[in-house]
Amino acid sequence: MDEIHVTLLVGSAREGSLNERLAKAIEKLAPPELAFDRVEITGLPFYESSLEGAPPQSVTRLKATLDINPALFVVSPEFNRSIPGMLKNAIDIASRPMDKNSFMGKAAGIIGTSPGPIGTAVGQQHLRQILAILGANVMGGEAYIAFSKPDLIDEFGHIEDESVRNFIQTYMEKFAEFTARLCRP
Ligand code: FNR
Repeated sequence: MDEIHVTLLVGSAREGSLNERLAKAIEKLAPPELAFDRVEITGLPFYESSLEGAPPQSVTRLKATLDINPALFVVSPEFNRSIPGMLKNAIDIASRPMDKNSFMGKAAGIIGTSPGPIGTAVGQQHLRQILAILGANVMGGEAYIAFSKPDLIDEFGHIEDESVRNFIQTYMEKFAEFTARLCRP
């Protein structure tokens, strides 16, 4: 089966990030037809309009990857019941110039983890709204992973807990079906 390329964005720059671990787990557990292209957003400049005319390489790379891939997947923490500023900045950058908004028509998926039981649920709602406004087709449903013990996901993305592993696997199978419906000719 042909691969579907998916731009992978992670909304945390923290060393030892729980969401970074979750992103690694997702790459392991997702069906093989999903080919993830990770783009780092940690080194992006803050958005200002001159970036549209003379973008640095970090911006060009982000937009080029989003533009070429039919799908994107965002793994992010929740900050103060919203999305981290770093992720919002990356989205603002890639949404411009207005006539070259890199999210238009893309299939999008969202997930996140936090030590709290419903951690990232509200942040995900904000992210869903932003991506929808930009014309992305965001998969319905929700997946927030409560990072209930320090080793729930190890630094290599391995998950011992079978129920958590199965939950993520099923969610990614759903995302693969969703992208196939939207992205295959
Ligand atoms: C948080 N955290 C947090 N957690 C949550 O479930 N809901 C929230 O609204 C917030 N808000 C928040 C704001 C700020 C500024 C910080 C620094 C933290 C806690 C957060 O989930 C926790 O630090 C995670 O470990 C962050 O994810 P990474 O960096 O480990 O991937």
